[in-house]
Amino acid sequence: MYGTDFGPDDAAGTGPRPPAPDEPLNAADAGIFDDLLEHDLRIEPRDEMPEAYRSTLVRQIAQHAHSEIIGMQPEGNWITRAPSLRRKAILIAKVQDEAGHGLYLYSAAETLGVDRADLLDRLHRGTQKYSTIFNYPTLTWADVGAIGWLVDGAAIMNQVPLCRCSYGPYARAMIRVCKEESFHQRQGFELLWTMCRGTDAQKAMAQDALDRWWWPALMMFGPPDTGEAATGGHTAQSMAWGIKRFSNDDLRQRFVDMTVPQAEKLGLRMPDPDLAWNAESGHWEHGPIDWGEFRRVLGGDGACNAQRLAHRVRAHEDGAWVREAAVAYAAKHADGRSRRRGSAA
Ligand SMILES: [Fe+2]
Ligand SMILES: [Fe+2]
Repeated sequence: MYGTDFGPDDAAGTGPRPPAPDEPLNAADAGIFDDLLEHDLRIEPRDEMPEAYRSTLVRQIAQHAHSEIIGMQPEGNWITRAPSLRRKAILIAKVQDEAGHGLYLYSAAETLGVDRADLLDRLHRGTQKYSTIFNYPTLTWADVGAIGWLVDGAAIMNQVPLCRCSYGPYARAMIRVCKEESFHQRQGFELLWTMCRGTDAQKAMAQDALDRWWWPALMMFGPPDTGEAATGGHTAQSMAWGIKRFSNDDLRQRFVDMTVPQAEKLGLRMPDPDLAWNAESGHWEHGPIDWGEFRRVLGGDGACNAQRLAHRVRAHEDGAWVREAAVAYAAKHADGRSRRRGSAA
């Protein structure tokens, strides 16, 4: 999630149906669709597409959009407690960016014929998921840095290949999103860099944040989908459709290879006794990931699942008057335009 896709869409079974890996395309659609894919061209909303391709995209884009807006909460928690005006301004801008990412993505999903009110309803009923990472608490100010460095860093790893996704509106949304994620990642690293050069207590706080966020960040890429450890999922079909360009495991490995040297620069220790450089493969090898924890948090048993969802529902209900006012304002202007056209005629 957060740019990768797995799991059923809707526990109640009312959502778009996940595709069967060997599902044949509708013969009438297959020609143009296959042609576009074969030439690495973009599928646009006007193009015929297999229903399973459409429903896969709806599920992935919705999960991604939900992750962006739920992701505002852990850091939003620190806006009033940021240690300086500069840090507060940066954090407000970052959290606001995440709201914008959600809006681009709900708009992209709507080009596939779904309604964002319906997607939000599924999020609120708990039948559509968001990234498990946002069900962990932000206990100290260093967590804001760890989220930027690790969570936004992992998001970039997932999202940069999505700029080449076969579905045009999703790919184009990702171009701007990735530019902003890059700023998010740098601000997180710079925050920790400053703390690591502060007092012993500040450096210890940075280390504690890394200890708590490292493993959940590795889980953001989703369960293993290559080799003997592969647990099924949608990877093969999504790659055939040009939605996904790299496996979960490849992306996770890239993230580990990028992040280990950055931790060294910070002077922090990775919380993984098995982490080792493999000179032969040219990669950092990490220890086993606790997928039991991942499944527990995904299933609703994380530290903050209930709190995140309750807060989201409350914010949505409190914002009802804004949505109603926007609709009334748009209707009033549409009325005025049609009256002006009528009198001109
Ligand atoms: Fe984002
Ligand atoms: Fe971000």
